[in-house]
Amino acid sequence: DGELTLSRSVINSSDKIIRKGGSSIFQHAAGDWKINSSLVMEIRKNILQFLDAERDVSVVKSSFKPGDVIHYVLDRRRTLNISQDLHSLLPEVSPMKNRRFKTCAVVGNSGILLKSGCGKEIDSHDFVIRCNLAPVLEFAADVGTKSDFITMNPSVVQRAFGGFRNDSDREKFVHRLSMLNDSVLWIPAFMVKGGEKHVEWVNALILKNKLKVRTAYPSLRLIHAVRGYWLTNKVHIKRPSTGLLMYTLATRFCDEIHLYGFWPFPKDLHGKPVKYHYYDDLKYRYFSNASPHRMPLEFKTLYVLHNRGALKLTTGKCI
Ligand code: CTP
Repeated sequence: DGELTLSRSVINSSDKIIRKGGSSIFQHAAGDWKINSSLVMEIRKNILQFLDAERDVSVVKSSFKPGDVIHYVLDRRRTLNISQDLHSLLPEVSPMKNRRFKTCAVVGNSGILLKSGCGKEIDSHDFVIRCNLAPVLEFAADVGTKSDFITMNPSVVQRAFGGFRNDSDREKFVHRLSMLNDSVLWIPAFMVKGGEKHVEWVNALILKNKLKVRTAYPSLRLIHAVRGYWLTNKVHIKRPSTGLLMYTLATRFCDEIHLYGFWPFPKDLHGKPVKYHYYDDLKYRYFSNASPHRMPLEFKTLYVLHNRGALKLTTGKCI
């Protein structure tokens, strides 16, 4: 689909505008918007040629036995053992099997959500997807609380739960997971080496506390398939961000996808500073080459899709 392609000059000029702190091209993001159902169906069909989200959203128990050795998806020389705990937490069948929704929210973690008042609107969707176990209670008015599906990179244990160094970190974590009830907790455990200890600790806590949360671990082919889809559409993204992965998966289950909290820029349209995350003090790294992500490029792609009625991107206040 050539129309998805963003010309280099559009990208360069919008980068300049964004760096100045104001943007004319994004000004219409919240304006009149109408779903384009035939485009939604076409995108779903095209994505299905690369991945089937029902299946690729998680490996299942029958894929492995305890003791199997697998190669990390993005680090093929390193291996991981499928432990007893991990195996016992693999779902029997895909947690997304036969699940279909009229409207879904995919909630990114940008500080643009602060003072948005979007909480009620987000919670009104049939299915709400969130990223990286972001806190909700303290921010409910702006981000809502409903969480049907929530991702958790293993690094979250270090970043938000003190590496489980003491009891209170572990209690805080168990409390956070118990709030999720039987929602899906999606843990990319097979991507890169480094987080295996954290994943094991998380698994052990879930089992020990008999938490109801439904664990899912993305398939070994998911990230390649998602990248393949976007590359074929001339969007050169080496490592799709969690948010883009979630949108791509959601196209399988949701007729209307609304995105909130996607704004990978340090200033808003009026030049006011925007926090990288709505809930912590992490700084922007996405303009540097050190980051594997290309969130600004992803954003522009999503913006094009918004304008074509394939998804709705909310970057302002909700009324
Ligand atoms: N996001 C965004 N703008 C921001 C922060 C986040 O658009 N300022 C979106 C991205 O799509 C991101 C998602 O919200 O993937 C969730 O945010 P975060 O937890 O920071 O995402 P990660 O992809 O996990 O980032 P990292 O790999 O650096 O942990």
